[in-house]
Amino acid sequence: MAKEEYNLLREALKARSRAYAPYSGFKVGAALLTDGGKIITGSNIENASFGLAICAERVAFVKAVSEGHKNFKELLIVTGASKLSTPCGACRQFMSEFNPKLKIILANTGGKTLKTNLSKLFPKPFGLKK
Ligand code: THU
Repeated sequence: MAKEEYNLLREALKARSRAYAPYSGFKVGAALLTDGGKIITGSNIENASFGLAICAERVAFVKAVSEGHKNFKELLIVTGASKLSTPCGACRQFMSEFNPKLKIILANTGGKTLKTNLSKLFPKPFGLKK
């Protein structure tokens, strides 16, 4: 794993430790790399009203965009599941708004990783172009 990717993993693991997931027990950490080399993290945040849960990926994007970043290179997602988790459908659409070709690294706490990208996971995003 390249140094930059290792940094993403380290930051995503830190973010995962801050996940608020008392209902599912499924903690997720995300680390988003901007074009300028900044890493912005997210973790999932659940609620007693279950449908209000927000995924780690969207937390990272919302934080980043609201802080003025719009160009993203890569996202790393880490969970504790032995089978690597891919981003949910809502997150795929949300992320494709900013970079439909985003590089994605899936990782787990056991050290397993897989490189993929959003074009593979979400080849036909919804858009408003007529
Ligand atoms: N979750 C994420 O954070 N990212 C995903 O892509 C899928 C699911 C969270 C939402 C919820 O808090 C928990 O994982 C179980 O669904």
